[in-house]
Amino acid sequence: MKAVRLALALVAAACGVATAADWPSDNKLNGNAFLPPGLQKLQADPIGSPVALWLERGLALWSERTGTASCQGCHGAIESMKAAAPAFPRLAPGGQSLVNLEDQIVTCRGRTGHPEAKLEDEDVLALSAALHHVAKGMPISVRPAAGQEAQWQARLGHGAQLFATRIGRINLACVHCHEQSIGKQMRADVISPGNPTGFPIYRMSWQRPGSIDRRLRACYSGVQAVLPPAGAPELRDLELYLKVRANGMPLDGPSIRR
Ligand code: HEC
Ligand code: HEC
Repeated sequence: MKAVRLALALVAAACGVATAADWPSDNKLNGNAFLPPGLQKLQADPIGSPVALWLERGLALWSERTGTASCQGCHGAIESMKAAAPAFPRLAPGGQSLVNLEDQIVTCRGRTGHPEAKLEDEDVLALSAALHHVAKGMPISVRPAAGQEAQWQARLGHGAQLFATRIGRINLACVHCHEQSIGKQMRADVISPGNPTGFPIYRMSWQRPGSIDRRLRACYSGVQAVLPPAGAPELRDLELYLKVRANGMPLDGPSIRR
């Protein structure tokens, strides 16, 4: 692993600091285990946390009626949807596209009179926050639907392959950071296993929430690779791999990150 250590040292040099700290390295930990105490405290504050505002907005949007339709009109109380977030991404009927929760929300925003909705829209993220909030504590449970096993396995296999493929000018794969460097410091961050239990995240450096799609693109940018466009199939394949790798881990609900 000498080459990896060298490459990481290069990243650290390119990015600024790398200081030693006592962080855990267990690959079954969630992202909260790698947050500094100040942000953990902010996250636990039901009023002061920036997540609280997004949650409120998402819960209000759930029952808001545009024209004749509302999310609630078709789906009932949002609490009845707690099994939804843990089950995404999943293949659409026909098996051609892998759909994550935000993709589904974009489709359903179209059904409530917002056909122009996009993945990182504030309303889409607020609804994602609300749907993840009601699913808090539910285990991630991503499995193929009956009849779609072969296509699902192929997408999962592609995700696993991408996870291990070196990319970017820095020439590192996801695995080099999120399996082999857990607990190491990189810029202001400490590298976690990348378990997708805390999305959507309110990232302090973004000053707004973002979906897993955006976080993955940020990791492409971190190794100076060409960014896939939002919604690219490879991002969904990676998400599928990360979720299957974390199957059984409880969702934390929307979370704060650095
Ligand atoms: C006109 C009815 C209708 C409205 C309004 C609607 N949806 Fe849906 N929703 C559906 C249908 C039908 C599906 C099944 C998948 C599909 O066909 O897209 C679905 C699926 C979903 C799922 C996945 C559920 C599961 O079984 O896991 C989520 C989450 C969801 N919708 C969220 C929303 C949100 C958020 C809104 C409001 C912006 C909304 N829906 C508005 C019809 C609707
Ligand atoms: C050079 C190291 C590096 C590489 C390579 C890298 N990441 Fe990251 N990633 C980070 C850092 C640093 C963070 C922010 C701290 C954390 O949560 O791990 C992060 C965050 C994440 C998170 C969010 C975790 C959370 O709880 O908020 C996910 C998911 C993730 N990365 C997946 C990936 C995937 C998939 C790849 C490969 C395409 C990848 N990363 C490549 C360094 C890296």
